Amino acid sequence: MSVWVEGSVIENIHWTENLFSLRIDAPIEKFKAGQFTSLGLDFEGERIARPYSFLNAPGQQPIEFFFYTAIDGVLSNAMTNLKFGDKIFVKRKANGFFTLEEVPDGKTLWLLATGTGVAPYFSMLETEEPWERFKKIVLVHAVRKAEDLRYQNLVNKFSSTYHDRFIFKAFVSRESSATALPGRIPAAITDGLLEKSVGIKLSAENSQLMLCGNPDMITDSIAALKTKGLKKHRRRDPGQITVEKYW
Ligand SMILES: NC(=O)c1ccc[n+]([C@@H]2O[C@H](COP(=O)([O-])OP(=O)(O)OC[C@H]3O[C@@H](n4cnc5c(N)ncnc54)[C@H](OP(=O)(O)O)[C@@H]3O)[C@@H](O)[C@H]2O)c1
Repeated sequence: MSVWVEGSVIENIHWTENLFSLRIDAPIEKFKAGQFTSLGLDFEGERIARPYSFLNAPGQQPIEFFFYTAIDGVLSNAMTNLKFGDKIFVKRKANGFFTLEEVPDGKTLWLLATGTGVAPYFSMLETEEPWERFKKIVLVHAVRKAEDLRYQNLVNKFSSTYHDRFIFKAFVSRESSATALPGRIPAAITDGLLEKSVGIKLSAENSQLMLCGNPDMITDSIAALKTKGLKKHRRRDPGQITVEKYW
């Protein structure tokens, strides 16, 4: 059986100059929320492909992906121009361990993301599992500009379904925003701004965290969380932090 299936573009949504999403109909195998597949296009007979996390919930069609157009990215630049009905290759089988089954139980689940790294969390939040396992869920989305805060319809849906069990916090770092916190996630962990604005303490006893996106955010956040007694989770050495670096 071929590794690749041919998908058909259902919609290409251009959110901003650099952010877009693709909705694709593709006969893939079932995946777990938080996993990624590869998307590919052929250029002069050669397939260029890259891994991307699913934004949609398992079992949903069309499948959906959230992208940043890298300035020199051949694939992402070609993908921004795809239109309804265009073909794109999708790996049949998903991969990855950034899933809730890798996260130990806890009272509060913190989902921290920069940029397009928020995608796997929307997939997870559309499933029952986090709501059955955690009392509270905090979604933190850090972006450069307020216009980069996309998928607010999903954020509003989780708020109206789960009320005070769901808390959303945005960080906007490169302009002032009336509704978002300023600066970066690691600094806000260190100086207590994040805990204060959410109203929940970060602790090794009660918290589980997932970090996704900019690799420097992940490194700096782990360092900040260490000073509060939290550490990376490993199957053989349980902790509180599970990570996925995006590039
Ligand atoms: N290859 C990929 O898969 C991929 C995906 C997305 C983005 N990117 C790359 O990321 C760049 C822009 O994308 P973007 O705006 O989504 O992402 P970004 O530069 O990572 O910015 C998103 C947020 O992360 C913050 N941030 C940056 N470094 C941090 C650190 N060390 N600790 C904590 N927070 C940090 C930024 O704050 P500041 O404003 O203070 O920097 C900003 O608020 C481009 O160069 C693009 O190529 C690559």
